[in-house]
Amino acid sequence: MRSSSYSPPLADPPPSSPHIPALPQRPRFHQRHIEGADTVRKELSEGLVKPQAEISPKFLYDELGSSLFTAITLLDEYYPTRCENQIFSRYAGEIVGHAGRVRALIDLGAGDCAKAERLLEHLKPAQYVPVDISADYLKAAVRRIAGRYPDPDLVALGMDFFHDLSLPDEVLPEGRAFFYPGSSIGNLPPEQAAELLANMRRQAPGGAIIVGVDLVKPREILEPAYDDAIGVTAAFNLNLLRHVNRILNADFDPAQWQHVACFNEARSRMEMHLRARKTAVVRWDGGERRFEEGEAIHTEDSYKYRPQTFKTMLARAGFGQIRYWTDEREWFAVFCARA
Ligand code: AVI
Repeated sequence: MRSSSYSPPLADPPPSSPHIPALPQRPRFHQRHIEGADTVRKELSEGLVKPQAEISPKFLYDELGSSLFTAITLLDEYYPTRCENQIFSRYAGEIVGHAGRVRALIDLGAGDCAKAERLLEHLKPAQYVPVDISADYLKAAVRRIAGRYPDPDLVALGMDFFHDLSLPDEVLPEGRAFFYPGSSIGNLPPEQAAELLANMRRQAPGGAIIVGVDLVKPREILEPAYDDAIGVTAAFNLNLLRHVNRILNADFDPAQWQHVACFNEARSRMEMHLRARKTAVVRWDGGERRFEEGEAIHTEDSYKYRPQTFKTMLARAGFGQIRYWTDEREWFAVFCARA
């Protein structure tokens, strides 16, 4: 895995003077742990030839996929974003109060930083640390935050926090709070989610965590949320094949595949698949596979938790003083716990 670190001159450097010590540049950007192209291709190829073919959901988010996900959050059927917004609108003060004194707010999967922005007003941290897979994705949003909030130090990190959550020394060591909204924790298998929670606790001794979690609910509500009437989620899922075509030089024809979303009650998760409408032979650099009609590629899981189950996960990861808030229908929860 390649690793690099850079600080592009996005802000004017402070004027240099022999008498005035230089202030840290604001914002600062660091990119670490970019997966090499060969590693990515190998992972994709191996997934495609498994008996149950699979493609990691991280490949859903190329440029078009990210825009389609933003569109999903506006759909009538996709409740999680609205529910979480309702919780923060009503209870941000209480949640922040429960988190204790926060000096560094670490925003995992920050994207456009919009969710954290609401907390910044309440928390007033000394430092804001948005984290995403690419520091480049964060540039526009962090510049906006820098303009709106003159006080917090801003350190933007591009890193794969699922693999390594260790933070650079410049992230304030005390009063760290991890913020992981949107129920993205549900896109990890529970064992990996538990490991990520444990890593967060290790990185935030004496600090806190604020995490959004989607709750178990009837199939009649869940399935339309992942298979909406106007087909945005279908496009989001099918676009994965275009992304794979570019990475692997593959010849998937999206028109030959069908989006499928179903609630796997036994595993408490929504699943997304792409099902071959008819027999398809797909070729890519270094591999090929014949998919029979009806055969499917597994593309995403989205785990739905019962509040007590997630509480137990947090407790096992070493968190204490665990509280959660829900929207009025109790479809979604925001947990806050102390590390
Ligand atoms: C990003 N993640 C929380 C979304 C979810 O609900 O699992 C991704 C998504 N997949 C289909 N629709 C939305």
